[in-house]
Amino acid sequence: MATEKKFDPRKLSLLNDPIRKKSLNPDFIWNTIGIKDPETVVDIGAGTGFFAKEFMQKMQHGKIHALDISDIMIDYMREHLSVYKDKIVVQKMEESKTSLPEESADLIYMINLYHELNNRLQTLKEMFRILKKRGRIAIIDWKKKQLEFGPPVSIKVALTEIENDLKVAGFSEIRSYSLKFHNFLVACRN
Ligand SMILES: C[S@@+](CC[C@H](N)C(=O)[O-])C[C@H]1O[C@@H](n2cnc3c(N)ncnc32)[C@H](O)[C@@H]1O
Repeated sequence: MATEKKFDPRKLSLLNDPIRKKSLNPDFIWNTIGIKDPETVVDIGAGTGFFAKEFMQKMQHGKIHALDISDIMIDYMREHLSVYKDKIVVQKMEESKTSLPEESADLIYMINLYHELNNRLQTLKEMFRILKKRGRIAIIDWKKKQLEFGPPVSIKVALTEIENDLKVAGFSEIRSYSLKFHNFLVACRN
């Protein structure tokens, strides 16, 4: 039987553990992406909105669109992020399809999602479609190593595969960084 790739939404409280900020430091991530004053930021696979709440504080104006395919996650965010409704817009998406207009986003990020995607190339092409020219995409996902926590190594995606996927989808200026447990890639849409 194939290993289930999708995060079990019944475990959503794990996503809110502040200890995650040690290995996935929001300040480091934001500064390394290095985008100046974005208007529209998109969080793909936003989960509970843990990182949307962090990055919202870095934006002078504009909005973060927090997208997920799971009704449980969407309901959770609608309930818990409504206080930030001027800054965070919660939206349901399909597996590789958003309802965002083309060339509308300055920055797209996905954290701990990439290994869960059913069709990586189709998702990246959708990201290419919604990014503005010179917009950036950031992908942070588990290094392909065995750990006592997180997803099984068999479903993790090697750095070289992510780099190759980005190239095939049309992205350029690919940079990659090594975090404690994660690969962190930033690429540009020309
Ligand atoms: C491991 S959780 C990570 C959540 C969040 N990014 C974080 O790090 O706190 C992965 C999330 O991606 C969502 N997801 C899975 N496949 C997706 C897809 N194709 N498009 C959008 N979201 C997806 C899941 O429902 C889940 O909420």
